[in-house]
Amino acid sequence: EKGGWDSFMAKEISEEPEAVANTIRGRVQDGTVTIPEIEGIDLAAIDRVLVIACGTAAYAGTLGKYAMEMWGGLPVEVELAHEFRYRHPFLSPSTLVVSISQSGETMDTLMAVRYAHERGATTLSICNTQGATIARESDGVLYTHAGPEVAVASTKAFVAQITALYLLGLAIAQARRTMPPEQIGEQLDELAAVPEKLTEVLESADEVRTLAQSMTDTRSVLFLGRHVGYPIALEGALKLKELAYIHAEGFAAGELKHGPIALIEPGQRVFVIVPSPRYAEELHAKVVSNIQEIRARGAHVIAIAEAGDVAVLPYADDVIRIPLASPLMEPLLAVVPLQLFALELAAAKGLDVDQPRNLAKSVTVE
Ligand code: F6R
Repeated sequence: EKGGWDSFMAKEISEEPEAVANTIRGRVQDGTVTIPEIEGIDLAAIDRVLVIACGTAAYAGTLGKYAMEMWGGLPVEVELAHEFRYRHPFLSPSTLVVSISQSGETMDTLMAVRYAHERGATTLSICNTQGATIARESDGVLYTHAGPEVAVASTKAFVAQITALYLLGLAIAQARRTMPPEQIGEQLDELAAVPEKLTEVLESADEVRTLAQSMTDTRSVLFLGRHVGYPIALEGALKLKELAYIHAEGFAAGELKHGPIALIEPGQRVFVIVPSPRYAEELHAKVVSNIQEIRARGAHVIAIAEAGDVAVLPYADDVIRIPLASPLMEPLLAVVPLQLFALELAAAKGLDVDQPRNLAKSVTVE
């Protein structure tokens, strides 16, 4: 069943290019997005989006927020499903509540969907499991076509969720006429190019394994990112906690000087997701300066940086390269080395990567 791979997780990471391609397939034609399954939802009538999810799915939601706000020109909030319904949130029929769940059975998310439905909001679920409870109880379903995910840690479903959210963001932009058609076409082309770039990123697997094997005694790892790199930093930390049982934290790079920089001591391993110098020059410069700050305090920096970015070289102890991609597509690539790193470190420690302790694939209790 593992098709020659050591674990389901390794197999599922290798399937990420297809997970993205299959999620796009049949939904894009001549530079426009058509999602027949959600035609019952009037996207032109929506003035606000509320995304609810847990764990990895919530990090995908944050990337969806950046895309939907930018393209769809409407406010988007992301909330952890288990926090959402206990604070009397404001909801109206023009609020689109988007739930994201690989399993479609997560109790926290299901209860939040029910709560939103009862209060008159329009509900749309992004789900990877056909006919799951959350899908059945929503007004519309946008399926991710990642295929069954067996390993407890979510990997290919995550990239498929981001893909689905981007398609939804462009569908909202079409319905609300917030973007010229040719720009929508350009973004769709960028998205269509992601699978091939993912295949390229997967080629860094050996390099990441060597790095992970050198870090089996590490007790704490930090992850820094800005803008779209921030949810990826959080995801990198979550994967490492879950799989390798190592203390890990993700921070927004700009937040560093507001406290977390006190954690930096000589030898502290820090992954930094570096924005593209070509597409995001200003952010790139800021992140490089963050790297200099932690480097000056002895941090050991592992940069995830675009191919050809030489500005990071003087400051990084290790550099993992990803292909050139526009800002919103970059996180789909940057997450892969972090998934591989957590997998390889757990494997090097002799842990069960598919069934980490204390966790279940779908959390059906609140
Ligand atoms: C992380 C992980 C969890 C799930 C979360 C939501 O690797 O697997 O954080 O992402 O429990 O699960 P779903 O998407 O099934 O609702």
